[in-house]
Amino acid sequence: MCTWWLNFKSLPMDHSHLQLHGWVRLSVSRDIPLIEIARSIGEPVPPRPDRPILRELRPHNPIEAESGSLSAILGKMEFPLHTDCAYYRRPPSHILFRALSPSSVATRIVDGINLLEKCNPRIFSSIFRVRGLKKYFLCSMINGNRIRWDPNCMSPADNMAESASVEFANLLQEIQPIRFDWQETESVLIINNRRMLHGRESATDDPNRLLESILVHEKL
Ligand SMILES: [Fe+2]
Repeated sequence: MCTWWLNFKSLPMDHSHLQLHGWVRLSVSRDIPLIEIARSIGEPVPPRPDRPILRELRPHNPIEAESGSLSAILGKMEFPLHTDCAYYRRPPSHILFRALSPSSVATRIVDGINLLEKCNPRIFSSIFRVRGLKKYFLCSMINGNRIRWDPNCMSPADNMAESASVEFANLLQEIQPIRFDWQETESVLIINNRRMLHGRESATDDPNRLLESILVHEKL
């Protein structure tokens, strides 16, 4: 478990660790609503236009899960590393997570930009087809220093992307993610969604795991 912590005492918060490493874990009083911390980073946005900004993330069986979600496919099993809202042309820049009850089911994160540097440079020009909210669109998995990766809504659109996705998936299998468990309910994890991939450990042994989460577009 990662033990690097910052004490969060007041707004505005210090963003330096988040900017440098792509994530930060804060020790925050539960008296401070997650939305307040989110607003210190940017504009909170919903995961889909008709959904609330504050998400409650809990393990679901496929039959009760939202159509198209990872839960609908994987249920309570491990969620693979991905970026959130890859179906948006401009995905949210950051994600905030906080546990509402203690859980040993960890969130895992990996620096996707660092990982891309180990890949064949062809990956930078490979094209993927993304199933957007209303229609499909084409894009690369890397745009400048921003990564987009979610095989649930992205599929290779050319041969280069086909081999790139296999290579990248293999690298993800080899890498050791940073692991955050949720035994401490006063901790808030903030990750850069355009740099870091995240995933969930299997929740089959803890079906009551409950996190709250907010997506943010950072201030320009
Ligand atoms: Fe996610």
